[in-house]
Amino acid sequence: MKLETTYLGLKLNNPLVIGASPFSEEVHVACQLQDAGASAIVMRSLFEEQIDAEQRALIHHIETPAESNAEATSYFPSFSEYQLTPDRYLRQIESLRAALTIPVIASLNGCRPGGWTDYAARMESAGANAIELNLYQMATDPVLDAEQVETAMLETVSLVTAAVNVPVSVKLSPFHTSPAQFSLALERVGAAGVVLFNRFYQPDFDIELLEAKSQLKLSDPGELLLRLRWLAIVSPHLRGSLSATGGIHSSDDIVKAILAGAHTVQLVSVLLKHGPRVLFSLLDGLDNWMTAHDYQSIEEFRGAMNLRRCADPAAFERANYMRILQSWRV
Ligand SMILES: Cc1cc2nc3c(=O)[nH]c(=O)nc-3n(C[C@H](O)[C@H](O)[C@H](O)COP(=O)(O)O)c2cc1C
Repeated sequence: MKLETTYLGLKLNNPLVIGASPFSEEVHVACQLQDAGASAIVMRSLFEEQIDAEQRALIHHIETPAESNAEATSYFPSFSEYQLTPDRYLRQIESLRAALTIPVIASLNGCRPGGWTDYAARMESAGANAIELNLYQMATDPVLDAEQVETAMLETVSLVTAAVNVPVSVKLSPFHTSPAQFSLALERVGAAGVVLFNRFYQPDFDIELLEAKSQLKLSDPGELLLRLRWLAIVSPHLRGSLSATGGIHSSDDIVKAILAGAHTVQLVSVLLKHGPRVLFSLLDGLDNWMTAHDYQSIEEFRGAMNLRRCADPAAFERANYMRILQSWRV
């Protein structure tokens, strides 16, 4: 009762959601997470490229050199490297829904408008309670300006939201010129919520082999600070839901994200490090903090530290920045 929250219109027992990750791959693992207290689960993403490749395969045009750049297509994983094919993904939604009582949020990962967005409707038919659309994109083309990139993203979101009746949230990267404006624009094209922020898996350099090294490092709590700042800025303006992802490792981190305005927090690294049972202590910690501060519900303190009462958040941020730099003496 005390820990309940509403996210994307879904009533959740508490704010602890399993973030998009391999945790959705095995039904028994998802059940363990539910038993330990998870209130919803976001599935691993199905990628635009996977769906496009399958659709091309269906019409026997897997590779059309005249239309595609052979080198570029070879960057992508082959069919067999994906954990779930599009069809298996739909079956996995059905299996998770059959086994779980908590909501199952399917995840689509793409950023350009295209036929793949129809897949959202198939996810809904398979039983997904909501869809999280991850707009992962590195804008590397020097000819594309920010407006063109964001216009294509908004068009993509509106295609997905138009295709389904279930709520759609959008997982954003922090690299937008104006994340607050863009979050509101997402709402206008039908997004029911925003997830802040995507983590980029940044390649390192191997200076012996002169090669880029791909690596997946789990997050650390320092990464939460960027999320707190933007949750606090966006939260007073957004009518829909906000979710925090990235760097949430303790019950204090959960409290901070909610104080900044999050309806839910999404957890991955902490679960990969400590296993599902860590959810018990995270929930206990949240409950204890609420008791100690005399809060009866999440909604009572959600957003209590956002920038609603700050007349000029930009000036506030700049003043803090200047003060911090000036405080150092050598
Ligand atoms: C192994 C692994 C797989 C992931 N797969 C996805 C994915 O398929 N789609 C997605 O949107 N995010 C994916 N993520 C990102 C997480 O959902 C999450 O946003 C990120 O790890 C930050 O949260 P954390 O600090 O709790 O790890 C993945 C993360 C990890 C570690």
